Amino acid sequence: MSVRSMVLEILEQNRESDISGERMAQQTGVSRNSVWKAINALRAEGYDILSATNKGYRIAPDCDILSAEGIGVNMQAKIPVFVYKTTDSTNVRAKQYLAENECERAVFAAEEQTAGRGRLGRSFYSPYGKGVYMSYVFSPNTEVANAVSVTAAASVAVVRALEKLLGVHAMIKWVNDIYVDNKKLCGILTEAVTNYETGIVSHIVIGIGVNFSTDVFPDDIAETACSLGVYSGVTRNMLIAQISDNLTQITQDLEDRSYFETYRERMLVLGHDITYYADGKSYAAHAVDVDTGGGLVVCDDNGNEKILRSGEITVRLR
Ligand code: BTN
Repeated sequence: MSVRSMVLEILEQNRESDISGERMAQQTGVSRNSVWKAINALRAEGYDILSATNKGYRIAPDCDILSAEGIGVNMQAKIPVFVYKTTDSTNVRAKQYLAENECERAVFAAEEQTAGRGRLGRSFYSPYGKGVYMSYVFSPNTEVANAVSVTAAASVAVVRALEKLLGVHAMIKWVNDIYVDNKKLCGILTEAVTNYETGIVSHIVIGIGVNFSTDVFPDDIAETACSLGVYSGVTRNMLIAQISDNLTQITQDLEDRSYFETYRERMLVLGHDITYYADGKSYAAHAVDVDTGGGLVVCDDNGNEKILRSGEITVRLR
């Protein structure tokens, strides 16, 4: 590990307090001069590092730069972390990595995506430094039927992280969009890597995009999207680590559906009249429940029930 990385780790771990060059030198086992050089290198990369005479250094509260070090120190369940400044899509990076490497669990994150992907072939707006664009990979080695509920599990992992870290009470709009005050804050795109012959899902890639401090949106989503805004002291590294920890915990045993209570509790559409779209037609219905497979149970005006499954419909509140 380079001195720069070790110093960055210490600074990210001690964001609330000053830490002296001498202490960092002791902790890393290098000279104070090497620490000083590392601080300068980090400043040259854009880190706003405050220094107080006789006290030491700390990262400025509003300085929010993604790094594997910053995510790693905030993670309880340590897994490999890969961070990009610019990439096409973290889901694409994750799948490429899986094609070339053995991997149990890992996280991929980027400051910016040039081809961020959304569900149903849409794109995901991913401007530099403004959002959390992350892909969490794990290897369930299970049948497709056991893997479908991962989408619901992922949205629960995100709402729990938002609540814990920021006190934000977010809702889930079926299937797995995360909403705050009736606007979309976060989208999730789950992709499976399946062995064609055995039908076994070897890996699942959970792509999560959160509008963290996004202040301007493109016209087509300007009315419907929202962001968290500015939370001084809470960084995107911290949110990625928290979401990742929640995912590690929730995906440990895919048969344990205890997260499902939260999924149902936070479901935005339940009890509402909705319009769903299927086969190019629109249908009016009432959203009644979600089943344990994550399907939305709807009822039409004649009392006929139908379970809507992911991917085949869009839902709009009437
Ligand atoms: C949606 O809203 O339709 C889903 C959006 C998913 C966006 C995330 S951002 C990180 C990951 N990489 C992508 O290309 N997409 C997902």
